[in-house]
Amino acid sequence: MTTELRTVVVTGAGSGIGRAIARALHGAGQGVVLVDLDPAATLAELTDDGAAVRAVTGDIADPATHLQARDAAAAIGRLDGWVSCAGVDRPCPLPDLTATEAARTVDTNLYGTLWGTQTAVRTWLDAGRPGALVAISSVHGRRAYPDHGVYEMTKAAIEALTRNVAVSYAALGIRANAVAPGGVVTAALEASLASAADPQAARDELTAFVPAGRLAQDTEIAAVVQFLLSDAASYVNGQTIVVDGAMTSHIGFAADPSTARPA
Ligand SMILES: NC(=O)c1ccc[n+]([C@@H]2O[C@H](COP(=O)([O-])OP(=O)(O)OC[C@H]3O[C@@H](n4cnc5c(N)ncnc54)[C@H](O)[C@@H]3O)[C@@H](O)[C@H]2O)c1
Repeated sequence: MTTELRTVVVTGAGSGIGRAIARALHGAGQGVVLVDLDPAATLAELTDDGAAVRAVTGDIADPATHLQARDAAAAIGRLDGWVSCAGVDRPCPLPDLTATEAARTVDTNLYGTLWGTQTAVRTWLDAGRPGALVAISSVHGRRAYPDHGVYEMTKAAIEALTRNVAVSYAALGIRANAVAPGGVVTAALEASLASAADPQAARDELTAFVPAGRLAQDTEIAAVVQFLLSDAASYVNGQTIVVDGAMTSHIGFAADPSTARPA
């Protein structure tokens, strides 16, 4: 195994968007380190041909998990990219929020991304090499929906960190970008919709927010992440790329055709 194999750490690779990102990178022949509370299923899927894949089972809120991921990447190749995808969304009305509940979201989404970003940047600075970071934000990073305050706070913070890393280390060849998806069909979204009193009405409402008329597939997010990690994105730095089927671009929809104003 060559030590120059381009290798990417992907947190949250056990499911959903993170798994789609890992699949895409693996399909392109890159080394992948899968970080998750439970990476087993993705590991089993990707190692069937003896490819350069490693798994780290751990909580991204713990900085030690990221050091393990760094070492796992070094064992199969050269750390080229780091994707901070693992995240949780636990809606809660603000008056009901407890410190324990808030910490569940902040520790994973905010600190999990912070410690991974720190580990990657340190690795590249120590080695005198460039690298690319991608953090998975959300349309919630810049738009509000009731009861999602903590989630939205963490996603806005991720975008702020992304800008800061880009500005601080661009001269050393380090790029940091974020991707902000709208609704993506994953286990997390399905569980969220299923928790509604009327799951079909919840799905229809979310879809109605999207001018594209449908939710995204995880592969459509992974493709943008793959581009941002690649040399084709060599001058893209400090950005948040929104991938939402125009969800956050519209003013609003006229639900009633009789309100149309042709002149
Ligand atoms: N699905 C969507 O509609 C959507 C939209 C916008 C943004 N996002 C973001 O995309 C990311 C992935 O979401 P998804 O829908 O694929 O979710 P998912 O639940 O399908 O996958 C998330 C993965 O992260 C892992 N994980 C969670 N907490 C962890 C922790 N503390 N340490 C290690 N691993 C942990 C889980 O085990 C899981 O495998 C999240 O950051 C989420 O906020 C999702």
